[in-house]
Amino acid sequence: MGQHILITGASSGIGAAIARTLDRDGNRLSLGARRVASLAEASRAAFRAHLDVTDERSVETFLAAAIGAHGPVDVLVNNAGLARGVEKVAEADGQAWREMIETNVLGVLHVTRRVLPQMLARGQGHIVMIGSVAAHQTYEGGSVYCGTKRALQSITEAIRLETVGSGVRITSVDPGMVDTEFSLVRFSGDRPRADRVYEGMHPLRAVDVAECVAFALSRPPHVNIDLILVKPTDQAAVGKVHRRPATDRTRP
Ligand SMILES: NC(=O)c1ccc[n+]([C@@H]2O[C@H](COP(=O)([O-])OP(=O)(O)OC[C@H]3O[C@@H](n4cnc5c(N)ncnc54)[C@H](OP(=O)(O)O)[C@@H]3O)[C@@H](O)[C@H]2O)c1
Repeated sequence: MGQHILITGASSGIGAAIARTLDRDGNRLSLGARRVASLAEASRAAFRAHLDVTDERSVETFLAAAIGAHGPVDVLVNNAGLARGVEKVAEADGQAWREMIETNVLGVLHVTRRVLPQMLARGQGHIVMIGSVAAHQTYEGGSVYCGTKRALQSITEAIRLETVGSGVRITSVDPGMVDTEFSLVRFSGDRPRADRVYEGMHPLRAVDVAECVAFALSRPPHVNIDLILVKPTDQAAVGKVHRRPATDRTRP
């Protein structure tokens, strides 16, 4: 019997890959993002609609329609998120801070607080947070992005404490560098700058992260995978990346 799996930010990158990976075995998918036309192709039964996680009314409308279409949510994947710029604190104007905090922290809370009570009432459910290596290691220019992912880590831990004994599971999948639209968004559409982030190294593909999510979901109900920290083999740490010279760029 499949599950109702709700994925935020399913119009690109990791969220779209999670949708494609879990689109099987009778699962009923609900996919949301602001760019509805770009939402991942999935089986015809998938519910696909506009969702802006920063807007509580949008969240309400989306959840009511998704639950109406597919019943209570069995799995919530809080994937929608972004980084904006690499401004140092002293140089920032604060606009990007607000967008990152509203999306990566408040957005996750807006969705989770509306889904979790139903999971608790049913004594089952699985919440997956897409965190980041940025929760584990801070870097210059990443004060607020890293801060949002560290906040997500605390929220995840608190929910695990608050729900123990309920049957609800919570997992954080925290990737290092993944080749998605992430850097393009971070650098406001500057393609050459975004491409330089992955230059000469072999980043994770979105599907590599999706398979980590699928693994956590596939464990039996008494097993909770707390955290999967997954990085490219070429990335030892933030800022410690092996890059090959242009003459030796054969990818494994
Ligand atoms: N790529 C990496 O290197 C990396 C590493 C660690 C963690 N992550 C995390 O992975 C997650 C997915 O990022 P990605 O790499 O797949 O980047 P991406 O390709 O830019 O995808 C981001 C997704 O989030 C959605 N989104 C952004 N703001 C939203 C909002 N207000 N409401 C609803 N959806 C929103 C976007 O959809 P719309 O624009 O259509 O709304 C898009 O579908 C993020 O949480 C990111 O922090 C990424």
